[in-house]
Amino acid sequence: MLEKITLCAMMILCSSLTALPAAALPANPQQQTDAHGRQWWQNAVFYEIYPRSFADSNNDGIGDLNGITSKLDYLHELGVDAIWITPCFPSPQVDFGYDVSDYEAIDPMYGTMKDFDRLVSEAKKRNIRVILDFVVNHTSDQHKWFLDSRSSKTSKYRDWYIWRDGQNGGPPNNWQSEFGVPAWTFDKKTGQYYYNYFYPQQPDLNWRNPAVKAAMLDVTRFWYERGVAGFRLDAVDTLFEDPNLTDNPSMPGKDKFGRPNFARIHNTKLPEVHDVLQDLRKIADKYDAVLIGETWTKDIAELKNYYGEHSNELQMPMDLMFGTVNKLSAPEFRRQIAAVDTAGGWPVFVISNHDMVRSYNRYGDGVHNDQIAKLMASLYLTLRGSPIMYYGEELGMENNDPKRKEDVKDPQGVTGWPGEIGRDGERTPMQWSTAKNAGFSTGKPWLPVPSSYKPHNVAAESQDPNSVLSVYRQLLAMRHTEPALVNGTYTALNEDDPNVLSYLRKDQDQAILVILNMSSTPQKVKLNLEPQGFASPKLSVLLSTFQLSPGTAESVELAPFGALIAKVAQ
Ligand code: NOJ
Ligand code: CA
Repeated sequence: MLEKITLCAMMILCSSLTALPAAALPANPQQQTDAHGRQWWQNAVFYEIYPRSFADSNNDGIGDLNGITSKLDYLHELGVDAIWITPCFPSPQVDFGYDVSDYEAIDPMYGTMKDFDRLVSEAKKRNIRVILDFVVNHTSDQHKWFLDSRSSKTSKYRDWYIWRDGQNGGPPNNWQSEFGVPAWTFDKKTGQYYYNYFYPQQPDLNWRNPAVKAAMLDVTRFWYERGVAGFRLDAVDTLFEDPNLTDNPSMPGKDKFGRPNFARIHNTKLPEVHDVLQDLRKIADKYDAVLIGETWTKDIAELKNYYGEHSNELQMPMDLMFGTVNKLSAPEFRRQIAAVDTAGGWPVFVISNHDMVRSYNRYGDGVHNDQIAKLMASLYLTLRGSPIMYYGEELGMENNDPKRKEDVKDPQGVTGWPGEIGRDGERTPMQWSTAKNAGFSTGKPWLPVPSSYKPHNVAAESQDPNSVLSVYRQLLAMRHTEPALVNGTYTALNEDDPNVLSYLRKDQDQAILVILNMSSTPQKVKLNLEPQGFASPKLSVLLSTFQLSPGTAESVELAPFGALIAKVAQ
């Protein structure tokens, strides 16, 4: 229901950030644009699916591709345009699929290639594109390339991985693995060490070898030909290492595994990665496909590099700095949004994924959690850029962390317990209904569902117009019907307000106002939209997550953690 409220003009500090003209975005004749010069991935809402945990069609306790296909109607009704499926390729599952033993097949645990083709074609019928996860830095130690590589020093594939002699009876240098284990693994058979940035079962590929590059580029062609619309590139920061193996300089303190800290300047973020990204992009462009990057950057300058100097690398490097703002703070979010908005590329917003504690726990205060989940949705789904949702976020799913070491499945948690408990908590089964195991499976799920699945599930929340799910549905519908939410500029309003984040999205004479109370107390907001061309604006409320007092004349009053989205007209 639309409520009308009028805003009185009050002088309040505003600043304007201009969206990039379409010309600054990659112009490739093979990539199709809409009437606004936008490419499909700019108009799209992405949704990450962890296949083990989404829907289990054969009740073996593990989700699968047919499970995903059976839920496409749900995703379509929700308003999702593209699904990113984390690795579903054959894998010993040491890192739950991020250890790939064959890039061009489907793990039988998830189904068959026929199931995959059916998934793509059924998704297409619903205008949903399928994005796969490309684990570019490493393979599984069971990949045929590595099995051959380790078989002898003269094997055909020896140089596909990074093999070196040790020094002084130890590893070749002081580099460390991300997972709390040594980064060099000694292989008795040939008396050399191989390099693994993650687990020893995940040996790093040698991207300096042209044969590796050619084979990996071919993998993308293989999937594009099967109808895949792009890739999320895993761990792109770690693709290259200094060939001289220079030791990393030490840093003060210890890491989460209790090891001394090092600045990883010689084995992460080497500039050579950009050549690879450009090659991947040339192929992607031929297929109108998108490349999304897992880009852990310390600042906007680093993030900017991933778009490429000529916008010829990743279309969508994830702004993980936004995703790791760990407390609700209007000034901090304002700062992050402004920074990425001026970075020169299309922003990508993520607040949760399979490596991060769920946003429900990170931002929840234990009292207003649902309200906060709606507030966060109202934020990242209304910004200039493409959002990537994480399955279950739309329900207010929470982490279900293991309580005992023996229950931990994630290798990070196994190594790091109790300081690092791993990522199982954010990977639990999707909550479909109040049935046993939240309707995910009639078998024993590979990870347990939290008891909070009772109120937080698709069936129950679909019946409640005020549920987190209902708010997501409204927001996603709005993104598809309000052009200003996709094409509009982003203008921060009331930039000195410590509690309320307000902004205007404006596309020609269409404008949407977003007001988000990030505090636990009611807040009154006064706005002056005159500089934006609205001397006496009339607001039609599109969504409010609290009971709005009708007919407010001079200012808007927001409930604790309340979100208000309104259409602005003169
Ligand atoms: C990043 C992935 O998101 C994570 O789940 C995985 O463990 C590492 N890369 C290694 O592939
Ligand atoms: Ca299954």
